[in-house]
Amino acid sequence: MQIAPDASIVVLTGAGISAESGLRTFRDAGGLWEGHRVEEVATPEAFARNPDLVQRFYDARRRQLRTVEPNAAHLALARLEQDWPGEVLLVTQNVDDLHERAGSRKVLSMHGELRKARCEACRTVMAWAEDLEPRPPCPACGARSLRPHIVWFGEEPLGLPTIFDAVSRCGLFVAIGTSGVVYPAAGLVGATPRSARTIEVNLERSSMANAFREHRVGPATEVVPGLVRELLEA
Ligand code: OAD
Repeated sequence: MQIAPDASIVVLTGAGISAESGLRTFRDAGGLWEGHRVEEVATPEAFARNPDLVQRFYDARRRQLRTVEPNAAHLALARLEQDWPGEVLLVTQNVDDLHERAGSRKVLSMHGELRKARCEACRTVMAWAEDLEPRPPCPACGARSLRPHIVWFGEEPLGLPTIFDAVSRCGLFVAIGTSGVVYPAAGLVGATPRSARTIEVNLERSSMANAFREHRVGPATEVVPGLVRELLEA
C-alpha cells in the first residue's frame, strides 16, 4: 500500500524497541519487572506506601540508562524524522531516553521520562540525572517532594490531545515493540483514519495485531531500518 509522499506519520514505540539495547521489556519475565510486581513500584499507592522502595527502583532504572546505547531501530526512526517531507510524530511508551539520544527531536513520552523529576509541592518538572533517594530538595521551591516524572497506573498519560490529533489525521501509523495491553496506547491504531496505512512491527503478532493491516515480524533492529529505507526510497 502506498501513502502520499508527504503524508503525516505517527510512530508508537514500546519496550520492544529498546530490548536489543539491553533494557528488559515489561512482560518478558512472568509479569515481573526487574524483580518487582508492577503494583509494587508503578502506582501512586505504592509510592504512598513505600516511597523509598519506589524511588530506589526508578533510581536504578535511571542509572541503567548510562549503560545502554540507542540501537539501529532508534537511529532509523531519527533518520525518518529528519528526511521524511511530511510531519513525523514519535509517541513512545518508554521512559528511557534512547530516542532522544538517537537524534529524534519530536518525541512525545506519554508515560513520562526517567531523566526528569517532578515536584509534588510546586509541580515544576525538571531535567534530573541523579538519584532521588535520599530525597534532595526541589531546586525550585526547596520542598523534599520530588518524584520520578513517570506516569503510574491510574494516572493520565501525557500529551493525549496532541497524540489523538496527530493519529486522527495520519496517513501512516506504525507500532513497534509494544504488546498492546496498556490503554490508551493500545487503542491508538483504532483512532487512525480509515484510509491510513497501519503497520505492526513485533517479534510476534501482539494482542492488538488484528487492528493492523500489515505486519512485519522480526527484531526491531532488523525490521525498522528496512522499513524506513522503503519509506524514504518509495
Ligand atoms: P511490553 O513488555 O508489554 O511488550 C513488549 C513487546 O515488544 C512484546 O509484544 C514483545 O513481543 C515485543 N518485543 C520484544 N523484543 C522485541 C524486539 N527485539 N523487536 C520487536 N519487538 C520486540 O511493553 P510495552 O507494550 O511497551 O507502562 O508496555 C506498555 C506499558 O506497560 C509500559 O509503557 C509500561 C508497562 O507497564 C507504564 O509504566 C505506565
